[in-house]
Amino acid sequence: MNSDNPKITTNQFTYTILNKLGEGSFGVVLKCENEQTNEIVAIKLQKSINNNELEMLNKMQGRNFKNLIKTYELYQKDDMYYIVMEYCKESLYDRILSQGKVKPDDVRFIMKAIGNGIKEIHDLGYAHRDIKPENILIFQKEDANNIQEIYKICDFGTIKNIDLLKTQYVGTAYYQAPEQLNNSNQYSQKVDIWAFGAVIYELLTQTTLFNGSTEDEVKQKILNITQSEIDQTINNQVNLDRKYKTLLLNMLQIDPNKRHDINKFVEDMKGQSQNVTRNQIQRITQPNQNQVNNFISDLPIPKDYQKQKNPQRSTCISNLPNPASLQKKK
Ligand SMILES: Nc1ncnc2c1ncn2[C@@H]1O[C@H](COP(=O)(O)OP(=O)(O)O)[C@@H](O)[C@H]1O
Ligand SMILES: [Mg+2]
Repeated sequence: MNSDNPKITTNQFTYTILNKLGEGSFGVVLKCENEQTNEIVAIKLQKSINNNELEMLNKMQGRNFKNLIKTYELYQKDDMYYIVMEYCKESLYDRILSQGKVKPDDVRFIMKAIGNGIKEIHDLGYAHRDIKPENILIFQKEDANNIQEIYKICDFGTIKNIDLLKTQYVGTAYYQAPEQLNNSNQYSQKVDIWAFGAVIYELLTQTTLFNGSTEDEVKQKILNITQSEIDQTINNQVNLDRKYKTLLLNMLQIDPNKRHDINKFVEDMKGQSQNVTRNQIQRITQPNQNQVNNFISDLPIPKDYQKQKNPQRSTCISNLPNPASLQKKK
């Protein structure tokens, strides 16, 4: 059926290219079919790979990480790297765009899964540095009677060994921790906790924690906000449960020393444990497409989400010192 489509051949398999899944700062991601096994995979093509990503992918080989995207093979040919991964139907970003609002129970489920994914990365001795909805994928695990959704972290292009961490402007404007922007020597794995806090805030309130019409405006807001303003913003969310407010207050601390680390976050989540083994989609109870379309069209679309790419959502990597316009005003 797809015999005319171009193919990618690695040392192990030949893959037929089906379509493009995404295009980002580092390369293109293609949906492909393994000719030998018929398995659908995602292949990321990129012109270079940094040592930390390479090291991390190697460390992950042959081990099982529940909430990190699995890499099947890494292949290099003619200055091009091919990262063959398990395929996911959509990202958390796609899900928010299509559904408008993520249900509170789903948010809990996502918090637990991504908290565990961040712990898996931190326990290996790395910081991800670009936690955001676009880098959280929804993997569908199929059993005989149902499909289980598993949220997994992808995109290890910005990953860094903690021994080598130094101030460097990496990440995506909306989710940047203040110490990532202000040349402080406090830069640590805790930047992932801040970003994760900003993602959770967004899922629970349907609005980004910081917004602005340009990337610089967003960064200025992050640099200029005070802790009491953040606390107030969180506490003023009338529809937000106290337990979520406390969790967010601990994650969105400007001072990284006061910010909870991932072990504390996991502990906090356990402390408020409920049934989180949900997201089992019974195949037989799936509504028909009309019902789905009607349901989706009734849901509000948050105004902060725009289909088109904007720089505030794009990953940036730069070794340059921060422009003067971004320095905190004295
Ligand atoms: N394994 C995968 N399955 C499905 N889609 C993927 C997969 N990996 C990446 N994508 C899609 O491609 C996009 C870009 O991939 P990513 O690894 O985040 O690269 P970039 O560094 O360019 O952001 C993702 O946001 C996602 O939409
Ligand atoms: Mg990405």
